[in-house]
Parts: sequence; C-alpha cells; structure tokens
Amino acid sequence: MSSTTLVLFLVLQLAHPVETSVANCIPRKTVKYQAGKITAFMKEGLSNVSTLLVNEETDMLFVGGRDAVFALDLNNISREIAREYWFATQERQLECIHRGKDELRCQNYILSLHKINNSYLYVCGTNAYHPTCDYMLIHGMNLSLQGRVEESRGRCPFEPTPNYASVFVDGEFYSATSNNFLGTEPIILRNMRNPVRTEFKTSWLNEPSFVHMELVHESESNPNGDDDKIYVFFTETAVEFEFYDKLLVSRIARICRGDLGGKRILQRRWTSFLKSRLSCSIPELNFHFNIVQDIFFLRRRKWQESVFYGIFSQQWGRLDISAVCAYSMKNIEEVFSKGNYKVAVAVEHSPVKWMVYRGEVPVPRPGACVDNFARSLGYNTSSDLPDKVLQFVRDHPLMDNSVNPIGDRPVLLKRGSTYTRIVVERVTGLDKHTYNVMFLGTDDGYLHKAFSCDGEMFIVEELQLFLSPEPVRALRLSSEKGVLYAGSQSQVVQLPVSECRRYKYCLDCVLARDPYCAWSQSANECVLLTKQAGSKTTNLIQSVKYGDASSCLNVENRVRKCVFTLGNNVFLKCVPLSNLASVVWKFNGSRLRTEDSNYLLYDGGMAIFNVTLDAAGFYDCLSVEKSRGKEFHIIVARYALYAQEKTEEANVIAMAKKHSEKGTEEFQSLEPSLLPDEAVIQESLGSRREKISLRVLGAGSVILFMCLLIWNFCKGHLPLLWKSREASSKPTDAAGPESAVLAAEGLGGVRESSDTQTSMS
Ligand SMILES: *[C@@H]1O[C@H](CO)[C@@H](O)[C@H](O)[C@H]1NC(C)=O
Ligand SMILES: *[C@@H]1O[C@H](CO)[C@@H](O)[C@H](O)[C@H]1NC(C)=O
Ligand SMILES: *[C@@H]1O[C@H](CO)[C@@H](O)[C@H](O)[C@H]1NC(C)=O
Repeated sequence: MSSTTLVLFLVLQLAHPVETSVANCIPRKTVKYQAGKITAFMKEGLSNVSTLLVNEETDMLFVGGRDAVFALDLNNISREIAREYWFATQERQLECIHRGKDELRCQNYILSLHKINNSYLYVCGTNAYHPTCDYMLIHGMNLSLQGRVEESRGRCPFEPTPNYASVFVDGEFYSATSNNFLGTEPIILRNMRNPVRTEFKTSWLNEPSFVHMELVHESESNPNGDDDKIYVFFTETAVEFEFYDKLLVSRIARICRGDLGGKRILQRRWTSFLKSRLSCSIPELNFHFNIVQDIFFLRRRKWQESVFYGIFSQQWGRLDISAVCAYSMKNIEEVFSKGNYKVAVAVEHSPVKWMVYRGEVPVPRPGACVDNFARSLGYNTSSDLPDKVLQFVRDHPLMDNSVNPIGDRPVLLKRGSTYTRIVVERVTGLDKHTYNVMFLGTDDGYLHKAFSCDGEMFIVEELQLFLSPEPVRALRLSSEKGVLYAGSQSQVVQLPVSECRRYKYCLDCVLARDPYCAWSQSANECVLLTKQAGSKTTNLIQSVKYGDASSCLNVENRVRKCVFTLGNNVFLKCVPLSNLASVVWKFNGSRLRTEDSNYLLYDGGMAIFNVTLDAAGFYDCLSVEKSRGKEFHIIVARYALYAQEKTEEANVIAMAKKHSEKGTEEFQSLEPSLLPDEAVIQESLGSRREKISLRVLGAGSVILFMCLLIWNFCKGHLPLLWKSREASSKPTDAAGPESAVLAAEGLGGVRESSDTQTSMS
C-alpha cells in the first residue's frame, strides 16, 4: 500500500469520530444578506481587490485592486475620496503576452499597500509580469504615484497571486515571494537598507506558498538584549517526511532584524533563518491540518503576551473542516532558541532521511540573533560570526520540534465552511474576563464570529457579506471604530463588530453570548457595550461564559386570534430563536404530541390537518435552547384558535389567497392585506410552499400529502416547492412592522436548522 493510500485510508477511517466531535459547532444565528443593510463600495474601475489598508489617523481605507488604488472614507466606505490608476504600459503588456501569458493576467495587479507615514504609501504591483514598487503621495483629496519606480524583483510577485507576504518598517521592506518570471525561485528578502535574502536551497524553501509576515519587537525591554524578529508563515512541500506523494506542511520561519549576512559564508544571506513545523492537529485522532491559509497577529503591549492565530485546512480535505489554532510567543521562542535541529542523512538506495541532530552544536547558537551573550564573546554583528556557526545554520535551517498551539489543539473547528481570512479582537465582558473574539471570512462570502472559552468553541453568528458567494479575500479591523472591512474580488463592505439591536429579546441577547452585547433592563433592548461604559453596568445582563439567561424576565407575547373552518388545514407560523434552538408546541398549556398524525412540524411552523372542533384552543410555540446544560424557553408565538362552520365567505378567502399566491415568491408579504392576522394561513396543503419535513408525518397525512404532491406536480407547482426553503428563510423586513419581529426571529433557524434538529435528536 502506498503512503498516499495509507493516508487517505486513515483520513477515511477517522472521518467518523471527527465528524461527531465537530458536528455541534454550528453558528447560533444565520444572518442572510440584506440589500441596503451593509455599506459597500462597488464601483466601475474596482476589480480583483487583493489588499486593504486601514489608517485610523487619517480616517482612510486604502484598497488595492487591478490597475488602481482607492482611498475611501473609513467611516463610510461608499464615499470615495480619491483614486489613482496605475496601468502597465502597452509595451509591457505586449511583451507579457508575447512571453506567453494570458492577456488578463498581463495587467497591473496591486498586491501590497504599506503605510510609510500619513502622507506616503509604498505600493507594489505585478505590472504585467514586471513587478514594480513605487511611492504614492496622499495629498488632501489626491493620490499620486511618485514615479520613483525601483527594480522590484523579489519585492512583489510576477504572477497575480496571493502567494505573497510583505512588511514595511522604518524604511526597510521585507518580502516573501518568487524572484523570477517562472515562479521557481522562492525568496525571503530585505530591501532598501542592507539587502539580505534566503539561499536558493530546497532545505530552506521548497515550493512555498507564503501567507503572512510579521515584525515582533522582541528587543523591547529584553533582558538578553535580543533582537526584533520577522516571522514568516507559509505552506511548503515537506522534505522531512517519507512520502511518495507530495506532502504539504505548514511552517513558521523567523529571521533577525539586525541580520546583515555573513562575511565569507552566507554573504548577503540570512544567518538567522530558522524554520519549524507549525502544527495544528487534533492529537487524540492524529488528525493534522497541514495547510495554513491565513495568520493574524494579536498584538499586545508586552510582546511576550502576543498571540498568532492561524486558519488551517487539510491537504486531503475530504471532510471540509477548517481549524483555527493559536500560538503563544513563549512556545515559538522555546522551539527556536532551545529546540533541536534536524539533519539530512544520506542513506544508500533511498532518499535522504531527516533526523534529529545529536552532534555538537557550535557556539553561539546557530540562527540565534546577536544578543548580549554573543556580544560578550565579541560578535557584534552577524558578519562577525564564526564560519562553523554559519555553515551549521546554512545546512540545518529546520528545527526538529514543531511549534504547537496553545492547549495543544485547535481553538475552533468548523465543518462545512472553508475559512480564508481571520482577524481577532480582545473584548472584555461584564464579567471582567477578556475574550479573544475571532472574525473569520469564508470562501462563500460569510463572516463567522466565534470565541473559545474553557475549551468550548462557540460561533455566535454567521453573516452573509455579499449577495453572490464570493470568497473573502481581505479582512481588516478598526478597533477604534468598532468596524470590520471585508473585500471580495469585486467589492469592499463595512460592518460593525456587533449589531446588538438585532436581538429583540433578553433571552436571545444573553444566549447569543456575544461579548460585545448586553441586555439593558432599563432600555429594554440589547445594547453594545462601549469601552467607556464602566459605571452604568448595573442594569445590564450578559453571560458570555455560561450563556445563562435565567435572570431575563419572561416576556408576554401578544396572542393572535384566528378563526378556522372545520375540515380545512391550518398553518401556525413559528420560527425558533436560533439554529441551536428547537421548537416545542403547547396546546392549552400542555405539551402537544406532535407525533400525532394530525400535526406536522415544518421549518416555518406547524400545520394542523383536517381541523375538528377539538382543535380549538390556545397554541403556544416555545423556542427551547440548551446552553451549558441549562434549558431556556421563550414563547415566540401564541395563537387562539376558534372554530367556524364551513361558509361561503371562508371559502372565498381561501380561494382568493390561493389565487393571488400564484406568481409571487413571498407569500408572507401578502398576508396582511388578505387576512387580518397574518400569522395564520388557512388553506389547502396543496398551495403550501414551505418545504415540509416528513419527520413527524403520520400515516394518514402521508397519503394526503402524496395525493396533493401529485396534484401539485400535475399543476406545475412543484418547482416552487424546492425553491421555497430559500425564499421563506429570507428575513422579510418589507413585510410590515408585525413581521419585522418575526423576521428578527427568523434570522435563526435558517441555514442548517433542520440538520441541527436531526443531529440533536
Ligand atoms: C480578476 O477578476 C476577474 C473578474 O472579476 C476574474 O475573472 C479574474 O480571474 C481575476 N484575475 C485574477 C488574476 O484573479
Ligand atoms: C514621509 O515619508 C516620505 C517618504 O519616505 C518622506 O519623504 C517624508 O519626509 C515623510 N514625511 C513625514 C512627515 O515624515
Ligand atoms: C376529516 O375528519 C372527518 C371527521 O373526523 C373525517 O370524516 C374525514 O374523513 C377527514 N378527512 C380527511 C381528508 O382526513
């Protein structure tokens, strides 16, 4: 059995337990795209957005796309302040096409924007496979390129590809990309001042896909006199594992900021380049997430407390699971400054084997920055280092130990979503506990808000950012404004970190466990906790850690009176508060046995078939949600049903409804005008357009249902039946004040809701 098959076999073997352990991490609410609700920037001229830059000092958001840079108002990104086009010259484009590249790719894709100061940006673009960087002046309402174009090979990719990372600090530009037209020479480079780069050796970089770069100011109040470091994150083809197929592996590499290269050996090459495997796995299942997709650096005042967050996926991603792992500086530091090195050993008749190096390690430690210890030995810069140290680091760039995540496991696992971008913010709740709230962009245009607390993972919500399912390609946060900016290929959107007002009930607000929100008893609404709140927290309710809503007062929902006709079918609308809630019906105060064939539960409520006089009475719909073992319910809808004999008039209403429903997708919006009480629909099942789950359907109803289905099919109504689930799950703000409440409830219970219920039962 080849190793690949072995791995696949293992993956399949493990499929089951992983699935069960991940299955319960479902976003509590699903918020679908609502036109006009999200501030967006989408204008002609804007395409292939790849990078966003926030400047809170000047209140500007810079957007890098194809052939242009935009400056937008940070408070309202639909307001464009300025734009500057930057096209590749026709000559360049022709040359590019001549060299066999696609015309579309022979444009100038702006891939990086760095702030130099408030009036200058450093901008790099592919420039039709002729990478170019330039300075851009921001002057009032104008952006202008300075034409100080420099030879920029190695600073920006040739290809319009996201395989690229860069940082700009105090006049030094660090980049990780490919150095040639073919994309075969990977490089990590420092430019401008003291240029230094990586060796072209597969043991250093082996077909890497760069993801992120970050400068950590480790020299600040460092007792060892250590240097600042630049960390580079990428995925590459592993050299250290024996596989017949290419095995990818995530890496964290680091270099010292003060590195000037060696004198004879490693001249103008990094003398401090070390890398290690960046591990993200479920240890007990031996389940590895080997591809790093994005990294966010949660910077703290003390660099030792800063944390790297990474999104990971799998190479053989059969299970469609994304993982988030977090790494402490302490773990990283330990591996690089104390860990063992790996060494390649040539073995006869087989490829080289990578093993832990057990021999003598020269002094000062190879790959370490020049620190107090090195200086005490007389080595003041990297070029003073002895040859044997430099030789060693050149041949042993790989550490034996891997960098393991905090808690040795992911902080978040999500099945069924592919995460593309991450930002994290620290938020202090009313309990004075600080939560690291993760915002995760997906490849289908959603944003997840999640946190992990005492090993428990919780996804507060998923929010649809764009109308079409486009991947989130850039994600930025302005902590000061409390606003997130997300870019897709063709647009940029802005949204608040939390929209607490969406929670209409205390119960909903508290069960949401959103660290940004709390229920205000005095205002009777869910409010955003402002950073300066402090004093007025007495009448606020929040329970992020436990989701304990027991201090919420009961709410009385209005009873809706409805009259039904004997022998007809009645539909009572009811949507649970969230994707984690289930629905329980009560009839005259006692729990309704919905297994009874006369009742049918479906996504949007309950149907009662062939109603008799016995059906008259009070119906309460409860949304029941478990949170940390406790169960909370709230009555989300109440109905009083009164019987009425079959009359001409009732039939007319039913007929009229049925008639007018044809040709319209949104039956809910029609109700108010037709029935005084829009919550109840009384009609034949045939014209019902909600997707009906057969879960509780009794034998009698099955026959009835099948007959109607066939009848429907003949009438050509059927295609509508399948579309209905999407249509009905759209929050319907347009449907009047009454249904606005319903729509707010309807934000939950949509995507995946039926899956939730089946998996919970
Ligand atoms: C640029 O955008 C267009 C359309 O939005 C897309 O077809 C094309 O593939 C993109 N180019 C690159 C290099 O991503
Ligand atoms: C901003 O940076 C540019 C380019 O390095 C420099 O010429 C200019 O003097 C700087 N301006 C300020 C205010 O520091
Ligand atoms: C409706 O109920 C009545 C009385 O119980 C019964 O006679 C009739 O057959 C039922 N109709 C259907 C379609 O189930």
